[in-house]
Amino acid sequence: MEIIIQPDPEAAARLAAHIIAKRLREKPDLVLGLATGNTMEKVYGMLAETHEKQNLSFARCTTFNLDEYIGLPENDPNSYRTYMNTRLFDKVDIPIENTHMPNGNAADFRAESERYEQAILAAGGIDLQLLGIGRDGHIGFNEPMSALRSRTREKALTPETLLHNAGPFGAPENVPRRAITMGVGTILDSRRCLMLATGAGKAAIVAKALEGPITAMVSASALQLHPHCTVIVDEPAASKLQGKPYYRWIFEHEPEWKEFRVE
Ligand code: F6R
Repeated sequence: MEIIIQPDPEAAARLAAHIIAKRLREKPDLVLGLATGNTMEKVYGMLAETHEKQNLSFARCTTFNLDEYIGLPENDPNSYRTYMNTRLFDKVDIPIENTHMPNGNAADFRAESERYEQAILAAGGIDLQLLGIGRDGHIGFNEPMSALRSRTREKALTPETLLHNAGPFGAPENVPRRAITMGVGTILDSRRCLMLATGAGKAAIVAKALEGPITAMVSASALQLHPHCTVIVDEPAASKLQGKPYYRWIFEHEPEWKEFRVE
C-alpha cells in the first residue's frame, strides 16, 4: 500500500485526477471503477476540465460504479446515476452505454447483483477502482461486518451513514435505507485501487483502516490485502497516522512519483 499525504483537499483530488488521467492516456479502453460522495466531486470536476482543456478522451473507457441506492428512480436528483451524469458523464465524451451502475430498481436484487458481477467480468475486470471511505470504514456501501470476500449484493445502511448522507435528502429519514453495492471481494479483484480521503472527520477511520488490524468491522482495512493500492489523504485526514514520516519519504524519493511531485 502506498500512502500519499497532500497539503489540502484540492491537492489530494488533483493527484487522484492525475493518476486516473495518466492511466486513461496509457490505456484508452480503461475499465474504471467509480465512487460517489462529496470527496469525489473535486476529482470529477478536474477530470472534466482535463477533458476540455487537455483533450483527455473517455470515448473508449468503460465505467462501473460501486453502488446505487435502492428504490430511487434513476432520474431522481439524489440517485447516484444522476450524480455521475451531472458531475462527469455529461461533461466528457464517454458513450453513456459504457457507464454501468447497479440497478437500484431491479425486481430481483440477487439476479441484478449476479448480472453486475458478470458485466464486470465481461469487460475484462476493473483496471482502476476509485474509492472513498465512510466514517464507519465502509468502501462502496460495505458497512461494518461485510464479509471480506463479499460480492455485489443488497446492503442495509447504518444509521451513521444515513445521517452523513442526509444533506441532499433534507433529513436522515428520507435517505433510502438500502443500497446495492459491489462487495469487498469485488473491489479487491480490481487490478489497482485508489482511495481518496480528506478532512479531519476522516482521520480516525483512516488510521484504523490503514494501520489497524484487518477486520470486517472496518471494510476498508481489507485494502491492506490488495497488491496495488494507493491511498491519497490530505494533512487533516492523515493527522492520526503513525507512519507519516515514512510515507512522506517514499513519496519524495521514489522515482515513480517524480512526475507527480511539486518540486
Ligand atoms: C459512494 C461510496 C462511499 C463513499 C463514502 C465517503 O459511492 O462509495 O463509500 O465514498 O461514503 O463519502 P464522502 O466522500 O461523502 O465522505
